[in-house]
Amino acid sequence: MENMKDLENKALAEIAAATDLKTLDEIRVSIMGKKGALTEAMKTLGSLAPDVRIETAKTLNSVKANVENALSQRKAFLENEALNARLKDETIDVTLPIRPETQGRIHPVSKIYEEVVAIFGEFGFEVAEGPDIEDQFHNFNALNMPLDHPARQMQDTFYISHNKDKPFDMDDAYVVRTHTSGIQIRTMETQKPPIRIIAPGRTYRSDMDATHTPMFHQVEGLVIDKTTTLAHLKGCLYDFVKAFFELDEIPVRYRPSYFPFTEPSAEMDIGCLKTKTELKIGAGNDWLEILGCGMVHPNVLKAGGIDPDVYQGFAFGVGLDRLAMLKYGIPDLRTFFESDVRWLKNYGFAPLDFSSLTGGLSNNGGQTR
Ligand code: DAH
Repeated sequence: MENMKDLENKALAEIAAATDLKTLDEIRVSIMGKKGALTEAMKTLGSLAPDVRIETAKTLNSVKANVENALSQRKAFLENEALNARLKDETIDVTLPIRPETQGRIHPVSKIYEEVVAIFGEFGFEVAEGPDIEDQFHNFNALNMPLDHPARQMQDTFYISHNKDKPFDMDDAYVVRTHTSGIQIRTMETQKPPIRIIAPGRTYRSDMDATHTPMFHQVEGLVIDKTTTLAHLKGCLYDFVKAFFELDEIPVRYRPSYFPFTEPSAEMDIGCLKTKTELKIGAGNDWLEILGCGMVHPNVLKAGGIDPDVYQGFAFGVGLDRLAMLKYGIPDLRTFFESDVRWLKNYGFAPLDFSSLTGGLSNNGGQTR
């Protein structure tokens, strides 16, 4: 049975030398396959004399067991090697900084938009939308501003003719919305109270200086329910300014004001310190106007199809660009819309910074200034 021992030794040497699973399987077939050397040897057992047969069978079984054992050990080893190689190959180092060639920046207005949505989203508000080109019913009439209302002149409105076959008629023309307040009406028309929405978007007025541009951004807010009061308005907006300016405390005051669509109406100021070179929010003896607000006028509820004897609520309007100027110390609004990449590199935000109340709104560390 010398040749069987040879066979075993040869097989074990081949198995030990196999460097991949395919070769290993070929070795297995050459020994134990249908026509393998060991299989062939087994086939001869029947023709042997009984005493020789027993001895030969013993030897063959031990060769078989040893070869099988070597095969399975080598297989486990090679599989493990293959797995390790794959793990090494597919490793991603998540701690590496983003590639330096990432030049794009998030515009401060987009950043503020995300921050405001993140805050009110956390408060349970939904984002509502409306068209940039609006009819006068939604932009004015339904907001308690009838045709002869002086506020219509105050808004420096851009009018758009929508009937080219008729001479231009200002009373019938469309407008590019002068504020996002019309979305209040569009929301009431399609949603039943309780309503809790913010409506961020572009707005347009014929005006241009360091703090005004013909296109700018606002966020409208609207809350309507049976028991919504002025106290809710104050609490909600107080929590908003604290979250927005990322301060634990911030002095606020409400000054009586007038808006046709709210009664009573107020403007909200926040405490600040103004020096020649600096504006510090949240400290000092100066005040800064931040937004307009009030309790929704019954006529507005009626225009939106909501019964003012059952429901009441509050509304507010904030300038997004103004918020961006205040929070990030950007002095001239016109520069927002000049598309100057040097400006964007200076005032913009890293593209992967994500605004959330828990993870950080402005991610100061990630700011690219
Ligand atoms: N629409 C006003 C504006 O454009 C802003 C505003 C003020 C909206 C008070 C409101 C509000 O909803 O209650 O100046």
